[in-house]
Amino acid sequence: MKPKFYVTTPIYYVNDVPHIGHAYTTLACDVLARWKRLDGYEVMFLTGTDEHGQKVEKAAETAGVAPQDFTDRVSIAFREMAAIMGVSNDDFIRTTEARHKAACAELWKRLEAAGDIYLGGYEGWYAVRDEAFYDEDELRTLPDGSKLAPSGAPVEWVVEPSYFFRLGAWQERLLAFYEANPDFIAPEARRNEVLSFVRGGLRDLSISRTSFTWGVPVPGDPKHIMYVWLDALTNYVTATGWPGEGPRRDFWPADLHMVGKDILRFHTVYWPAFLMSAGLPTPKRIFAHGWWTIEGEKMSKSLGNVIAPADLVNAYGLDATRYFLLREVPFGNDGNFSRKALISRMNVELANDLGNLAQRSLSLIARNCAGLLPATGPHTEDDTTLLAAAHALPAQLRARMDTQGFGDALEDVWKVIRAGNGYIDRQAPWALKKTDLPRMEHVLRVLADVQRVVATVLQPFMPTSMARMLDQLGVPADARDLAALATPLAAGTALPAPQGVFPRYVEEVG
Ligand code: MSP
Repeated sequence: MKPKFYVTTPIYYVNDVPHIGHAYTTLACDVLARWKRLDGYEVMFLTGTDEHGQKVEKAAETAGVAPQDFTDRVSIAFREMAAIMGVSNDDFIRTTEARHKAACAELWKRLEAAGDIYLGGYEGWYAVRDEAFYDEDELRTLPDGSKLAPSGAPVEWVVEPSYFFRLGAWQERLLAFYEANPDFIAPEARRNEVLSFVRGGLRDLSISRTSFTWGVPVPGDPKHIMYVWLDALTNYVTATGWPGEGPRRDFWPADLHMVGKDILRFHTVYWPAFLMSAGLPTPKRIFAHGWWTIEGEKMSKSLGNVIAPADLVNAYGLDATRYFLLREVPFGNDGNFSRKALISRMNVELANDLGNLAQRSLSLIARNCAGLLPATGPHTEDDTTLLAAAHALPAQLRARMDTQGFGDALEDVWKVIRAGNGYIDRQAPWALKKTDLPRMEHVLRVLADVQRVVATVLQPFMPTSMARMLDQLGVPADARDLAALATPLAAGTALPAPQGVFPRYVEEVG
């Protein structure tokens, strides 16, 4: 039986249309999902939309549409985003689905049975934009007396009856849990943030609202609507078929919840507490990535600089966009999106480094070896060094991917690509043609083997262009996973006529 791997994106609020911030989270998960499939895992990759709560209700009201119609419409835009980004999700969950409401009700009942829920009254600050409660001391007061959450979202004073979750009683158990699971929160700096937040003491959490109706009713007291974060987090177990039985139940606990840094507290404090209270296993890891700014500015509707994923894909191509987003910024850090940087990486790293390596060696095979994959001859030290570096990539990348080091993984591959270009310059197979034909063939074969490894491990990042590169190397469709790298390609395989995989990007002038 194959080992299992379950990865999730956050589910996206449907108050807004998709932008590259959303595409980024989803893309990172897609690369991991594809990598794990390539490495022999049975993968479940989940994404979807977060459709309840006050924020979505308000957005529907502003649009003058009933909430269900509104969410139906905007949810489709997120499905389309996944398709535009070439994302290979196995399921798409919507919190308005019956399967999800059933899971929420069951989770609630379990928290109640555990004695962790009580009825009280909430009096305090709430930010609709973040769908979050804040303590007075977390807020910033503006000169006009109004207050803002740390995220910049306006807060309002809320007084209403509410059910509470006894989060305060979970403080010590959470700290023990983080201690016992040092890899649960990544990167390290985020883990420290969470630890100090929890050490500072936890208040009981308001988990129901009565001032609006768009959400999942509390079992036995339907005047109350479940707090949208309790509802939303539950999506990750809903999709495994819980509380029913089903073929996907074995995927829980999730291996990784990928989230942005803004939603860390919900995933690393509330979620494990809910799960432990309900007697369910906790996810293995939460990774919080950074935020993108656009040409140095915060992305916002009012600045008019919001970038839709489709704009980038149309302008630069899907694989270049995917490559850039994961290459430009060390995963976990904040980053700045600039078109100039994207174009430069396309031209230098894709067209020059990788494209030229492929084009130079494949066109020599086409011209000088009758288009047939050459056989290997005796190895020199230069050959062995390059081949060893290439064959070390799968293990190196496995470690990088398990710690979500996408940029480092790509740098590892590019070291080999650059070494390949150095090798071809040194070995000069075009000159060997006249002096030592068998050596020329051997050198071209070494280059083909190196490219095969490179294209194989890069498939999760750039599926379309790497499939084309593997086609050109004559790699059979069923021999493109990591395990297949152990079997050499058959010498004499007829290769198709080489074609450039990465054209240079020439900027339109005027
Ligand atoms: N609905 C909640 C998540 C519930 S998960 C149980 C939510 N949705 S969101 O649509 O507002 O954000 C989803 C993700 O997009 C978050 O991980 C957030 O960090 C990410 N991003 C939104 N803007 C972003 C950038 N500018 N840059 C990078 N990621 C950003 O939160």
